Amino acid sequence: MKTLAVYNLKGGVGKTAASVNLAYLASQSGLRTLLWDLDPQGAASWYLQANTEEIPDKSMWRAGADIEGQIQSTAYDKLHLLPADLHTRHLDTWLRKDGARDALLQRLKPVNRRYDLVVLDCPPSLSHLADNVFTASDLVLVPTVPTHLSLRALKTVIDYYEAEGYPRNTLKPFYSMADRRRLLHRMLIEQPPKMIKDVAKTVIPYASAVERMGEHRAPLEVFESYGYAAEAYRDLWKEVNAALKKT
Ligand SMILES: Nc1ncnc2c1ncn2[C@@H]1O[C@H](COP(=O)(O)OP(=O)(O)OP(=O)(O)O)[C@@H](O)[C@H]1O
Ligand SMILES: [Mg+2]
Repeated sequence: MKTLAVYNLKGGVGKTAASVNLAYLASQSGLRTLLWDLDPQGAASWYLQANTEEIPDKSMWRAGADIEGQIQSTAYDKLHLLPADLHTRHLDTWLRKDGARDALLQRLKPVNRRYDLVVLDCPPSLSHLADNVFTASDLVLVPTVPTHLSLRALKTVIDYYEAEGYPRNTLKPFYSMADRRRLLHRMLIEQPPKMIKDVAKTVIPYASAVERMGEHRAPLEVFESYGYAAEAYRDLWKEVNAALKKT
């Protein structure tokens, strides 16, 4: 089982859109996939039409508890969901009680044989939860809008990641919500700053089709597979899958 996090300290950069689309594409490629929504906003759960009566409570964080009973199936073959709601805001506190940075990793152990891939949709913060995510993940994708402020947030993440001893090659930025009509976006895409010379080749464009995921409450591929945004997510999945295989 591999674990892929979609993470950024910065909010509103396309983490949830990427989590849902990549998890769906992974499942359609045949991988038994679990999307774990770690964000109290519950956006990924909402996109996947989670049953909100069965949201995990803190019992899953008690010593010895496992996550299996909280997992839901989705409308899609091979794609399961561990949903979130406002309870999830306590996640940091529960994890702190656990103390170690590997609490999330430990919670995933019981499902190790049941899934090929776990996708973690993370909330925008750099907290104890983030350390647990970094510890549990084989690859951490960081959607980054091609603007100066987004790159500044990314630098904060990279500096922290390196300072805490996480291997830099497991942190993979990709450009998200890119608008090629904007000179700054084009410049930063064509000449990425040195700190992200490993930025993914695939650029996720700014596209209204992605916003329509909220109308359909479904992955983009399900309702508009012909567009350029859907194609970009397919390309990103190929690139990420290849990177995961090397981990
Ligand atoms: N490529 C895109 N093109 C256009 N709109 C997008 C794109 N990606 C995401 N959006 C829109 O931007 C908003 C934020 O996207 P999303 O929820 O995926 O970001 P996020 O990083 O998960 O946010 P948060 O930090 O709040 O969890 C949503 O309204 C979404 O529909
Ligand atoms: Mg989100």
